[in-house]
Amino acid sequence: MNFEKKILITGGAGFIGSHLVRKMVNKYSKYLIVNIDKLTYAGNLNNLKEIENKPNYEFINIDICNEADLSKLFKKYLFDGIIHLAAESHVDRSISNPKEFILTNVVGTLNLLNECKLQWKNSENKCFYHISTDEVYGSLGDVGYFHENTSYDPRSPYSASKASSDHLVRAYGHTYNLPIKISNCSNNYGSFQFPEKLIPLIINNIKQHQPLPIYGKGENIRDWLWVEDHANAIDLIFHQGKLGETYNIGGHNEWKNIDLVHLLCDIMDRKLGNVKGKSRGLITYVKDRAGHDMRYAIDASKIEEELGFKPSVDFKEGLEKTIDWYLENEEWLTNVTSGDYQNYYSKHYQQ
Ligand code: NAD
Ligand code: DAU
Repeated sequence: MNFEKKILITGGAGFIGSHLVRKMVNKYSKYLIVNIDKLTYAGNLNNLKEIENKPNYEFINIDICNEADLSKLFKKYLFDGIIHLAAESHVDRSISNPKEFILTNVVGTLNLLNECKLQWKNSENKCFYHISTDEVYGSLGDVGYFHENTSYDPRSPYSASKASSDHLVRAYGHTYNLPIKISNCSNNYGSFQFPEKLIPLIINNIKQHQPLPIYGKGENIRDWLWVEDHANAIDLIFHQGKLGETYNIGGHNEWKNIDLVHLLCDIMDRKLGNVKGKSRGLITYVKDRAGHDMRYAIDASKIEEELGFKPSVDFKEGLEKTIDWYLENEEWLTNVTSGDYQNYYSKHYQQ
């Protein structure tokens, strides 16, 4: 088949990546979407069942740290664009095992940049797009927002690795004229999120009648965005964003962790037919995360004004849909929480 464009998506079997792959395969039937993923504990091909047999989709199991495999891949396909999401993504795991984060997030990104630099002698209409995080900007006090020109101040091994990869991407743009874009997004939520992250962890633990662990006093604040809105923003930036630019993406939707967990408990009690207040009784305050960032909040006016982006899903409606998805997808949840998950969970929450 003759495709209009060949797009490489890395980390497409993960949470955000699978939403993006599904969207791009369905929306752009004339593009070939090649998804490469190492399938770590966080990668799951069951997330992509809906599109796995589509003629414009291919999956290849590749570790972005493996230069020889990447070189073969880039010899086989002449990519027009790369949307790079593959990463170790969980802050707590970066605190207990930082090296894996440096290897995948920094060295893996460097390997991809080098392949593009080799392949794109003529960089017209090409694009290396790095999907990054608001955590590179550090932590906010009670007021203020992260803007695109906020100085970097990463404070966890995870955010330090993402900040390093952002810097490398910009350095390749500046030094080698590589056509690059970066976006820094706030906390995502929705279906297919691995239940180590706050929202699916709380939903799963309520289902299992397990304690709901709240770090510290539960007063830390995150700015939540519906994952499909993030995928929409990525599509917009990939197609209409300016080369060399950075875009912040956020939901204007700040929640204190404890208030969010209360809301999840109340929705779950209603859906499960529990006595009101039952799930709140499972809340357990545990030792705080080391170096826990207090508040993240995004100023998304650039993407809104320049590209017309607007979050489409109201938070409470999004949480209802997310909870329904986890209640309806028992098998998915059982699969991802068997084996290694139990070891991770008991070790992490015993500390
Ligand atoms: P995730 O952990 O759910 O998925 C990561 C994917 O990358 C998995 O499929 C995993 O198998 C794959 N992967 C890991 N190491 C790899 C390697 N060496 N080679 C190839 N594939 C590898 O993560 P996510 O939450 O979907 O995040 C995706 C990207 O978006 C990350 O770069 C993350 O930093 C960024 N981000 C996430 C959020 C969020 O709220 N989750 C917010 C902003 C930015
Ligand atoms: O801001 C974007 C980032 O959001 C992404 O770059 C990361 O990949 C993603 O994991 C997420 O990071 P957070 O650390 O903010 O997400 P997490 O779901 O781990 O935690 C959200 C908040 O909830 C945070 O303040 C820590 C707290 N928390 C988390 C867990 C897992 C708890 O209180 N208890 C828990 O058990």
